[in-house]
Amino acid sequence: MRITACRKEHFNAAHRLYRPDWDEAKNEEIFGLCNNPNFHGHNYDLVVKVTGEIDPETGYLIDLKILKDYIKQEVLLPFDHKNLNLDVEEFKNLNPTAENIAVVIWQRLRKVIDKKLDVSVVLYETERNFVEYSGE
Ligand code: NI
Repeated sequence: MRITACRKEHFNAAHRLYRPDWDEAKNEEIFGLCNNPNFHGHNYDLVVKVTGEIDPETGYLIDLKILKDYIKQEVLLPFDHKNLNLDVEEFKNLNPTAENIAVVIWQRLRKVIDKKLDVSVVLYETERNFVEYSGE
């Protein structure tokens, strides 16, 4: 009897997408507005999904208060109101695309969430554009 519990969170952060090894024209062509040299922000919505068996003793899959604290420690405190390129170690040499942000969030949460539970991360960069990463 597998079930999925979800927690939705929100953060806003600045980023810039570019490759220093490409010239300005190519960065502009590939990354468009997200290549703005002075950065720009997004309002990110994050859904963390945890899947596994219900604990027969508590009736919980995971205590959602604990999941909330994990997300706060691993994602919201380091990312919210930050410049992802400049303030977050993982993006010093990695483009903070929605794809890469989702992978980094997943890696951070995977380290703290009980190994018997599966973890999936859905990240909305806009209302209509979102990515999902489950560690595969
Ligand atoms: Ni952008």
